[in-house]
Amino acid sequence: MKVIFVGTGYVGLVSGTCFAQTGVQVCCIDIDKQKIDRLRRGEIPIYEPGLEQMVLQNSALGRLRFSSSLVDELPDVDVVFCAPGTPSMEDGSADLSAIRSIALEVGQNMTSYKLVIIKSTVPVGTVLQVKKIIDGELQKRKVEIAFDVASNPEFLREGNAVHDFMHPDRIVIGVESDRARQIIESLYKPFTIKGHPIMFMDIASAEMTKYASNAMLATRISFINEIARLCEEVGADVHRVREGMGSDPRIGPSFLNAGTGYGGFCFPKDVKALIYSGKERRVSMRILEATEEVNNRQKLILVEKLIKYFEGQLSDKTVALWGLSFKPQTDDLREAPSLVIIRALLDVGVKLRVFDPVAMPEVQVLYGDTLTYGTDIYDTVNGADALLLVTEWEVFASPCWEEVKRLMKGRLVLDGRNIYDGDRLRGLGMEYFGIGRR
Ligand SMILES: NC(=O)c1ccc[n+]([C@@H]2O[C@H](COP(=O)([O-])OP(=O)(O)OC[C@H]3O[C@@H](n4cnc5c(N)ncnc54)[C@H](O)[C@@H]3O)[C@@H](O)[C@H]2O)c1
Repeated sequence: MKVIFVGTGYVGLVSGTCFAQTGVQVCCIDIDKQKIDRLRRGEIPIYEPGLEQMVLQNSALGRLRFSSSLVDELPDVDVVFCAPGTPSMEDGSADLSAIRSIALEVGQNMTSYKLVIIKSTVPVGTVLQVKKIIDGELQKRKVEIAFDVASNPEFLREGNAVHDFMHPDRIVIGVESDRARQIIESLYKPFTIKGHPIMFMDIASAEMTKYASNAMLATRISFINEIARLCEEVGADVHRVREGMGSDPRIGPSFLNAGTGYGGFCFPKDVKALIYSGKERRVSMRILEATEEVNNRQKLILVEKLIKYFEGQLSDKTVALWGLSFKPQTDDLREAPSLVIIRALLDVGVKLRVFDPVAMPEVQVLYGDTLTYGTDIYDTVNGADALLLVTEWEVFASPCWEEVKRLMKGRLVLDGRNIYDGDRLRGLGMEYFGIGRR
C-alpha cells in the first residue's frame, strides 16, 4: 500500500517512518522545504531516540521518501494522513487552517479514490469539515470521485515516540464507511497481529477520545501539584502520598509526580481547546479551567521558592538551571516550564547559567547572549548561588555532589522533579528543597 503523510513533524515523521518499517510505501510531505531538504540529505530535524536509524534504513530501502509537493504525490496514493500542527489561537481554540488548506488541496487535485485520515489532534466536527471542503471542491470541479474521511488520533509520547508507535496500547479509529474501515484494518495489520488492539468507533467519539485522554493526564498533574502545595504546608511528603494512593489499582501511580507543571506542544493547547469547545456549546469545563490555572502557577514554583529563600533579594544572584526541554529525551521547548522560569528570573536581574543535553541550540536561538551556556553539568553550576533542576534528564540523576558543592558559591538546591535524596544532600551541607516534600 502507498500512503502519504502531510505534515512531517514529531507525529508525521515518526508515524510515516514506522509505517515504512512495516513495509508500506510512504512519502512524508511538508510545506517547510528546508526540512524536506534536510530529510532528503538524511538529517533528522528533531531529537527522538531510535528515529534516525529507522529513517535512514527505510529511505535506503526506497520505502520512505520526502517531498514538498502534495499535488505531485497525490495521484499515486489511496491514503492521505494529515498530521500538521493544530496550535492554540489567541482565544484558546485550535488553529485548523493547515488542516483546511490540506483538505482544499486534496479536493482540488484528486483524480481517484482517497481515504483522508486526520491524525492531528482536532476538535469534534473537524473531520466532517474536511469532508465538506473536499466535497465542495469536487462539486466546483463538477467531478464525481469517491472518497472517505476518518479520524485516527495519535497517542505517541515525544521522547518515546518510535517505541510508542510500534507498540501502541490502543489504535483509535473513527470511521463511517466499510471501505475506509477495511483499508485501515489492513494498514494496521502488522500491529494488530501482534496483539495491539484497534478500536473502531464513530468519528466524533474518536476525536473526543484524544482530547479527553490528554485532558485527564494534564488534570492528574495539576491535581498532584496542588496536593504537593498542601503537603508542604501540613508537613506531609507528596512522594509518600503518591506511593500510598498510586498503589490503589483504581488510581495507579502514572502522572502523579509533583513537579514544575506540564508543558510541551500537546497538553497546554489541548486543555485550552477543550475549554473552548465547552464554551462554544455552553458546557462549563470547570475542572479543566482549574487544571490550566494550577499549571500556570506551578511553572513558577521554583521561582517562588527562590524568592522565599533569598528573601526577595535576587538581583545579584547567579542561578544554574539543569534541563530546558519540556521533558527528558526530547529537544522540544514548546510551553516548557524552563522558558517561564528563565523569563521570570531575567526580569528580576538574575544571571543564569543553563545546561541541557539536547535543547541548548534552540534556547541559544531564543536568548542569545542573555544566558550563559554551560559546557556540562559541572561547568553550569560554577559560581552559582542556587541550582534548579528543571528537567529530569538521566545525566542529572546522580551527579557528584561533592564536586557540585565545591564549584557552587551558594548551597541551595531546588529539585523541581523530586529526584534527589534530600537527607543525603543536607548531610553534605547543601540546602535542599523539593516539591511537596518534608
Ligand atoms: N508532538 C506530539 O507528541 C503529539 C502527540 C500526539 C498528537 N499530536 C498532534 O499531532 C499534530 C502534529 O503535532 P506535531 O508535534 O507533529 O507538530 P509539528 O509542529 O512538530 O509538525 C507539524 C508539521 O506540519 C507542517 N505543516 C503545517 N502546515 C502544513 C501544510 N499545509 N502542508 C504540509 N505540512 C504542513 C509543519 O511545517 C510542521 O513540520 C498536532 O495536532 C498535535 O496535537 C502531537
